[in-house]
Amino acid sequence: MSRKILVTSALPYANGAIHLGHLVEYIQTDIWVRFQKMSGNECWYVCADDTHGTPIMLRAEKEGITPEQLIERVHGEHFRDFSGFLVGFDNYHSTHSPENRECANTIYSRLRAAGLIDVRTIEQYYDPVKQLFLPDRFIKGECPKCGAKDQYGDNCESCGAAYAPTDLKGPYSAISGAKPELRNSEHYFFKLSDPRCEAFLRQYTSSGVLQNEAANKMQEWLGAPGDNKLTDWDISRDAPYFGFEIPDAPGKYFYVWLDAPIGYMGSFKNLCARQGLDFDEFFKPDSQTELYHFIGKDILYFHALFWPAELQHAGFRTPTKIFAHGFLTVDGAKMSKSRGTFITAESFLNTGLNPEWLRYYFAAKLSNTMEDIDLNFEDFVARVNSDLVGKYVNIASRSAGFIAKRFNGQLAPANADLPAIKAIQEAAPRIAELYEAREFGKAVREIMALTDGANQYVDSVKPWELAKQEGKEVELHAACSNSLNLFRLLTVLLKPILPVVAGKVEQFMNIAPLAWADARTLLAGGHAINAYEHLMTRVDPKLIEKLVEANKESLAPAAEAPKQAESQQRHAQHQQNEVKAESPWEPFCNIDDFMKVDLRIARIANAEHVDGADKLVRLTLDLGNDETRNVFAGIKAAYDPAQLIGRLTVMVANLAPRKMKFGLSEGMVLAASDTTGQTPGIFLLSPDSGAQPGMRVK
Ligand code: 2FM
Ligand code: ZN
Repeated sequence: MSRKILVTSALPYANGAIHLGHLVEYIQTDIWVRFQKMSGNECWYVCADDTHGTPIMLRAEKEGITPEQLIERVHGEHFRDFSGFLVGFDNYHSTHSPENRECANTIYSRLRAAGLIDVRTIEQYYDPVKQLFLPDRFIKGECPKCGAKDQYGDNCESCGAAYAPTDLKGPYSAISGAKPELRNSEHYFFKLSDPRCEAFLRQYTSSGVLQNEAANKMQEWLGAPGDNKLTDWDISRDAPYFGFEIPDAPGKYFYVWLDAPIGYMGSFKNLCARQGLDFDEFFKPDSQTELYHFIGKDILYFHALFWPAELQHAGFRTPTKIFAHGFLTVDGAKMSKSRGTFITAESFLNTGLNPEWLRYYFAAKLSNTMEDIDLNFEDFVARVNSDLVGKYVNIASRSAGFIAKRFNGQLAPANADLPAIKAIQEAAPRIAELYEAREFGKAVREIMALTDGANQYVDSVKPWELAKQEGKEVELHAACSNSLNLFRLLTVLLKPILPVVAGKVEQFMNIAPLAWADARTLLAGGHAINAYEHLMTRVDPKLIEKLVEANKESLAPAAEAPKQAESQQRHAQHQQNEVKAESPWEPFCNIDDFMKVDLRIARIANAEHVDGADKLVRLTLDLGNDETRNVFAGIKAAYDPAQLIGRLTVMVANLAPRKMKFGLSEGMVLAASDTTGQTPGIFLLSPDSGAQPGMRVK
């Protein structure tokens, strides 16, 4: 009997670009969903942008637009990127939607009616300049444990200690720099510590809905029986806040993390209205449908504790399973902007890399554990070229032409007893189990072993030799027909990972969209195929260099702000449970920090185009006393090199030299740019007249 399944991936925040770290999750989910659909199940895949919260509000303010305008723009960008990677959502909605407001209000009012909402006055830091209560991530100060400076209000990145913002020494607002004041405010809490929640969560989290590792983590968070460690959850924020106002509490808003998971329901509700589906059938307490959430391991707490407890006590069904995955590393290290390994989805596609290469590579690396996965570029190129182009596509390209040229496009009957064919047909149910269990790496290994078997068959019958021999028509026809049948069967197995290639195969083989059950059948003799269509090219390693370079060059020309890069990395990898602060200003630094940067007047002695670089100009900078520096500056869009020669500017003279594709860059020139994109352009700094090369700037 066909199953009814609802699947979600975590909702990405509406204030940042989709990058390869995100894509691990969306590609993993999409493969699973495509497998379910191919297997004949009714499966719906919904997602949405996570649009609320202080960072989004401040980001919009910084860009001079409304939050609504910001989230609309980002929604378009996210949807474009997901589509580019063939992530086939049935609905990509927004948490800022009427459906989500309705669902959030329903859940809240039912929890309130059940006595699970508490209102308490709490003391919180307030920014008197910016006039808002500061979320933990917007308060900085000295770590109370180790004394490290400029630590966030919730935990220290230096010693790892966790604390309350009120514990910080010398706290300051990361937005305005002002000294925050402690003020009282009424907050709304979801009483997670209530015995009803505790009892439910003890049973729920040990009932097999979680991976073992995750279930163990839950036991830690729950505490031993009789020692309830759950604490109530603050679900409200004070105005000004971009979110949904709490119905019976004017000036109070639902905290972004309250309405984010509810966004799964909101998105599905929107889909139900469009598709004529019955929302209640999927969300009623005794629902016979299945509900799965794919998430990063860092947001387990929200999904395995808060979310099921809310659903349970608001009279809805709870998730069937929660699938947590690990983070992405690139070449064995955290993604990094300065190394060019913080790669956006958009740049990957714009560089001309094929999204199915990445889908295949991720699939080959994925398992059902919470282990991190590594994108190793050398391995990526080798594996895609060898497996997909060298092995898989090669089967079709060596056989299809003869069928078209010599047999009028018609196949001979396949040999159902051919060992390579039987092997695939026997393996298909096992591979289906691996897909179902999210053991994609194991599935890929099995499929590639079968592909090797198919190639051994082609190598043994050698169609290219048969074609040259007189009177071997029957053998040639059989050999090519068997090969194409093998190819069709392998395509069934790879289709969840490679939907576009599978579509091309369906077109050239003149067959209906392949379903999983087609792995049991063979094409009939006389079936006519269409002309062979080129299926996939090899990865040119130069494209990888270009990709890394493009992600390096996407930095602002003047300031490669490592702080920001790191904070985006953390954001990317969901390593914090709070929404990240995106203050428009860098945190304070003291005069000693500032003096570490050796700023000098420099004369541009020479400037020239760099062959093959879209954004760079090579500058030779004269610092006086025969001291020169070679610097690559990302200012090509704004300046003609010839105009630059002779002018004075300011450079960072002690920036560690950086090896770039085009040579060594020995510093950086300073330029202004509007990061919001409102005023495009790059504006190189110039000193007042009289300044001489080599003079220190401070
Ligand atoms: O960590 C994040 O990126 C959140 N925006 C995920 C939300 S998932 C769900 F709860 F909405
Ligand atoms: Zn510390």
